[in-house]
Amino acid sequence: MKCIKCGEKAVIHLRQHNTLALCKEDFLAWVPEQTQRFIEKYRMFGRDDRALVAVSGGKDSLSLWDILWRLGYSTTGLYIGLGIDGGIGYSDTSLKMCEKFAAERGLQLQVVDAPAEYGGTIPELSESTHRGRKKPCAVCGLVKRHIMNRAAREGGYDVLVTGHNLDDEASILMANTLNWISGYLLRQWPVLEAGPGGLVRKAKPLCRLYERDMAAYALLRGIEYVYEECPYSHGSKSLFYKEMLNRLEAERPGAKMSFYVAFLEAKEQGLFASSTDPALERLHNCPSCGQPTTAPGGCAFCRMLAKAV
Ligand code: AMP
Ligand code: FES
Ligand code: ZN
Repeated sequence: MKCIKCGEKAVIHLRQHNTLALCKEDFLAWVPEQTQRFIEKYRMFGRDDRALVAVSGGKDSLSLWDILWRLGYSTTGLYIGLGIDGGIGYSDTSLKMCEKFAAERGLQLQVVDAPAEYGGTIPELSESTHRGRKKPCAVCGLVKRHIMNRAAREGGYDVLVTGHNLDDEASILMANTLNWISGYLLRQWPVLEAGPGGLVRKAKPLCRLYERDMAAYALLRGIEYVYEECPYSHGSKSLFYKEMLNRLEAERPGAKMSFYVAFLEAKEQGLFASSTDPALERLHNCPSCGQPTTAPGGCAFCRMLAKAV
């Protein structure tokens, strides 16, 4: 197969884009071009904005940081240490990958260590909060969201960016649609504006790029990343929905993309437009930590911590 741009030998065939086949050089140019297109289309951030890039050490967030760096944006990385070992030193390895990546490019990496700040690793905080009734992922999500918002706010960043890709977004959409969780459907979008009480703007520049293409990008750019998934992700709902969507995609190439993009287009055409997000109206500052929350009284993060100690 030949690259449709230059006729050289193609290294990747993007089945979801009809018959787009590209050589290494053209693929490595195509990914940032697409990313830039979506940053502009959804008005995520501009050239003068300072972006805090949340990096997990995985292929998506490190590739995203690489792309933004190549595109010339002003970026700082944020790594959150979660204290997860899982027999593979998961958190330690992830941190090393992020540090190596930043050092190679002369980029700044901010590291926030959750166990040092909150007196327990994610599995420990989860155990003392839920006593084994829930997987650590619930507490993990809370802690990550809390730290990301705080770090972006305290550092005066204009936007917090994450490496969510199309597969992530389609699987979230599938879960929300199967259960018709209207609040989440209302809010799911490539960019979320800043809100009252210090809620920072959030953007997902890779939301229209396939996970498979991001893996190819990382590989072809020689980015070292953590191959292992978080040890607690086995059997998670999001992996289940991803597998389901992959089966659909195998039968109908492009199905994942059209599921997500048709949703975005329907929203642009007014689906949900008449409703304002009721959650935003309830936003106030948590009396304990000062972060924005919709929960009456203290925020979910502070309630979790109070239970954990
Ligand atoms: P996940 O929720 O693990 O699928 O991750 C989604 C996105 O959240 C990643 O692409 C990163 O941008 C960010 N993220 C996940 N884990 C971390 C971490 N430990 N530190 C900083 N950012 C993270
Ligand atoms: Fe948080 Fe797995 S990354 S529990
Ligand atoms: Zn709080």
